[in-house]
Amino acid sequence: MKNKLETTKKIALAEIKKADSFDGLEKIRIKYLGRKSELTDVLRGLKDLSNEKKKEVGELANKTREEIEDSIKYQVLSIKQRELSGLDEKERIDITYPGEKIEAGHLHPITQTRYMIEEIFKSMGFLVVEDREVEDEFHNFDALNMPQNHPARDMQDTFFLKSGAVPRTQTSSVQIRYMEKNKPPLKIVSSGRVYRNENADTTHGFNFHQVECLMADKAGKITISNFKSVLSEFMKGLFGKNVKIRLRPSYFPFVEPGFETDVSCPYCNGKGCRICKNSGWIELGGSGMVNQKVFTSVGLPEDEYEGFAFGFGIERLAMIKFGIDDLRLFYSGDLRFLEQF
Ligand code: FA5
Repeated sequence: MKNKLETTKKIALAEIKKADSFDGLEKIRIKYLGRKSELTDVLRGLKDLSNEKKKEVGELANKTREEIEDSIKYQVLSIKQRELSGLDEKERIDITYPGEKIEAGHLHPITQTRYMIEEIFKSMGFLVVEDREVEDEFHNFDALNMPQNHPARDMQDTFFLKSGAVPRTQTSSVQIRYMEKNKPPLKIVSSGRVYRNENADTTHGFNFHQVECLMADKAGKITISNFKSVLSEFMKGLFGKNVKIRLRPSYFPFVEPGFETDVSCPYCNGKGCRICKNSGWIELGGSGMVNQKVFTSVGLPEDEYEGFAFGFGIERLAMIKFGIDDLRLFYSGDLRFLEQF
């Protein structure tokens, strides 16, 4: 009997040690301590033994039961422990692990170009100014030497609002607004939206952006050389140190003399390529020395001041800068295009 109990205990303890679930342990408990177990049989049979044997076998059977129970309790704890440490591993936070990158938007390429331009001018001491997009005819045309019925008004197809107001066709209106309040010397730059009643194509929009620059001072202080030098710095800042500029005579009512302004193609260094249509040059916009009529239209005396001004299309500058061949892409809302900037 003694040996039998010892062997049962050994087998039970080995099984308990191997058990890896609460279910498994419960089955072992029933097998070795339940009502139909060997141990229960032994304890039931005690009544048939002599007093001496009863004591000896009884003590051994109880001790065996206690050891099996203790071993089950210990195994329950160790299974719990294992599960807990498994949880720990799953839920552990590694604070050194690189975080997930949150997708952030970015500025539209035209806004980026506007800011780049403004930074270049600020570095040359220009003041960045802004003004309204909905103008009156005086500020958009008349004060710029384009009175009613002047043929030059046909140069810019204009939207007129029912009220007679004009969504500005050019940022040159900002020159007038600024000089109404500020006398030369002045150095200003202004960029913003303009509107023209035109059909959109690869180089034209009905709503696009211009950047306007005006520098004026007492007569004799500002010459075309100053203009060329500022323009050259601007172009080098935007397109790189190797670009050159070129002025061609042109007509704008608010400048005299007036120029069409070109930059050497930054892609082929003026040799001729697809971007510059093999000419080596890219047209930027109008420029010139401020017409005295512009000064007088804002109440300044004739011939007391001189200066230069230019107005370029920002979409066209951005197209050169980023090598884009269709202006409409900027407004397509196509994220595959916009995400490249
Ligand atoms: C003007 O608007 C003058 N105000 C420029 C100026 C300012 C001349 C100061 C002299 C002194 P123009 O209409 O050429 O000029 O337009 C200037 C530039 O705007 C063009 O060279 C071109 O780059 C851009 N531009 C004109 N029309 C469009 C259009 N529909 N879509 C996109 N860009 C345009």
